[in-house]
Order: sequence, then structure tokens, then C-alpha cells
Amino acid sequence: MVVKTENAVTKFIAQTRELFAGEPDPEKRWESMRPVLLELLSDPQVMESSKNWPDCVPQDGRAENLLFYEDPDYNFVINGLTKAANSRYDGVSQVHDHAHIYTLYGVLDGTEYIERYKRTDDGSDPDVAVIEQSANDFVGPGVVDLVRPWEIHAENNKGVRSVAVIIRSEKQGAFLQGRFDPATNKYWQGYGPRQTPTEMLS
Ligand SMILES: [Fe+2]
Repeated sequence: MVVKTENAVTKFIAQTRELFAGEPDPEKRWESMRPVLLELLSDPQVMESSKNWPDCVPQDGRAENLLFYEDPDYNFVINGLTKAANSRYDGVSQVHDHAHIYTLYGVLDGTEYIERYKRTDDGSDPDVAVIEQSANDFVGPGVVDLVRPWEIHAENNKGVRSVAVIIRSEKQGAFLQGRFDPATNKYWQGYGPRQTPTEMLS
């Protein structure tokens, strides 16, 4: 006998698969994902389990993400990102893009300071990108931030422990993403976060 257990995560995966099956337009699909992620973030078991998630530690110029789930058909992933109050993430606000993928960023605990940038040069020099800040805001629980393909941004936990659940259209780590230094206009590419398989619920 197969015993089927439903929890907030299995429900989220089922809802997301249904939404992906029914909405092929990526922009509409990802806008529709906002309330689905908010429901996952409001689940008491997810909240309680997140206290046991290990801290993510940047290494060799790459961030770390917890990998909770990767969908075998639609390729979307559920990532976790836990930043300790005094981790090396604090103050290190690397400006970057996520290449071709969509990212829905939901804060579960703490706050994140998010900066958005606009590119103002013509892209003719491969090592140069002139960018200027276009927006900045603190986001906390109850807010989800949608980062579209190639959008330039930075996130900083500003010395507070923060926990986020992130839904991405594809697993990062194996493709190059853009990195930007607004002080020098330098542009280069690097691989995204290493992925650490972790149990989401405990
Ligand atoms: Fe990012």
C-alpha cells in the first residue's frame, strides 16, 4: 500500500507543476507563482524546519544554496539561502545577474536589502559594464521579489540572520552569470551558487 502524505512542500510542488503545465508564457507563469510561494512561506512546519537549515557559506568566490527539490519535468528548483548574522555575506553585496533564468525570492525570516541596477553603456567592450542604481528596498517576510532574466541586482542581509526560499526556473551552478563592479565598471562572468542537497522539512 502506498501511503500518500501531503505537506506544504508536496502541495507547493503539485500546484507549481499544474501552473507550469497550464501557462507556457514565462512572464505570466512567474507572476502567477507569487501567491503560491507566499503560501509555502506561511507554513508553520516550513518556518520551524528552517531553524535547522545549515548556514550557507560562500567559498572561492561562489555563493552556496541549499537544494531542496529539482523538478524532473519542468526543471524548476526550490532553493534555500540562510545567511548568518555575521557571515561573509554581510557587507559583501556582489552585483550580479542570474543569466537566462527566472528567480522568485521569498524571505522567510529576517530582512534583505535589495538593490536594482540599470545598464547604461552599449555593451561594446566585453570587460566593461556601466551600471547605475535604479531602485533599492528592504524586503522581509510576506514579500516576494521576482528577478527576471539578465536583471542586475544585489542582495545584502546587513548584519541580520536571514532565511530565504527561492524558486528558480533552472538549477544554478553549471552556467555562467554576469558580475558587475559599479566602482570600476568592470564586468566579468562566474558560476552561480554551489548546490548543497538538504532536507527541507524536519
Ligand atoms: Fe541574485
